[in-house]
Amino acid sequence: MTNKLEFQDRMLSLGLARVAEQAALASAPMIGRGDEQAADQAAVNAMREQLNLLDISGVIVIGEGERDKAPMLYIGESVGTGEGPGVDIALDPLEGTTLTAKDMPNALTVIAMGPRGSILHAPDVYMRKLAVGPNYPTNVVSLDMTSSERIEALASAKGCRTSDITACILERPRHSEMIADVRATGAAIRLITDGDVAGVMHCADADLTGIDIYMGVGGAPEGVLAAAALKCMGGQIFGQLLFHSDEERKRAEQAGIKDFNRIYTLDDMIAEDVIFAATGVTNGSLLSGIQREPGWATTETLLMRSKTGSVRRIAYRTPVD
Ligand code: FBP
Repeated sequence: MTNKLEFQDRMLSLGLARVAEQAALASAPMIGRGDEQAADQAAVNAMREQLNLLDISGVIVIGEGERDKAPMLYIGESVGTGEGPGVDIALDPLEGTTLTAKDMPNALTVIAMGPRGSILHAPDVYMRKLAVGPNYPTNVVSLDMTSSERIEALASAKGCRTSDITACILERPRHSEMIADVRATGAAIRLITDGDVAGVMHCADADLTGIDIYMGVGGAPEGVLAAAALKCMGGQIFGQLLFHSDEERKRAEQAGIKDFNRIYTLDDMIAEDVIFAATGVTNGSLLSGIQREPGWATTETLLMRSKTGSVRRIAYRTPVD
């Protein structure tokens, strides 16, 4: 209980915004330089350094990868000063490394924090995902429906024609059937080349972004991060892990997954209140990217707490070398 009360310390959420900001600022010099790895490394270093300044007793549950593959911010790494509440941390220091390297829209730094044991330990495998924004009946769409059935159900719930719906889908050969199925309903599709955390978040504000529904297969860690965002913004997300090898199944077992076919709802992925922070790296329809001018950089960060429903947009201008 004390732990929970401490967790509600609002100052901690501001600390989390700073973690996201610093990771974005560190990756800024790498925007458009064609080097994904260097951009990611800069964000990882900065995020880890800032995270370790926070008074939390944190454990990374969604991170850069398994310990043997990721030396920093790996799954299971302890972070923070160890002097605060016990928390789970889910992060992606640079969501959209290719977007950053190519200076394309919607690259973000992302971090979420919830009480210990509240965030799904998703292994680094693929996930079938389906998300819609707030104000729809529960289960208005489902993973069991075909893509066209989802569009029809959503249009009927929204009280519009299927041609008034826009879906967001990752442009991948694995989605060619889905794309054809959605197009056959007359719905529009915004194809994205990367960055499905932002893709899912777009559904939460359809008036601003023009996106009503997200569907397709992407990374499971990104699915959990997207669920954390929707926990704060409102909406529904469904995810099902996909396994392509015994090695992946083994990793899932190690992460505590027992039912390999389970469909996870938002609350299955994020079981308690969560704080979510994301800073724009490149410009996007949700967040501005880093603005650079001689000697200065400005970031925009979205900071949200599901407990209060608060949403802050923080502009941060700072001198840079
Ligand atoms: P990065 O790891 O390069 O940042 O890419 C992120 C991402 O586009 C996610 O948003 C998405 O879930 C996943 O990669 C898709 O995986 P794949 O590129 O293998 O289809």
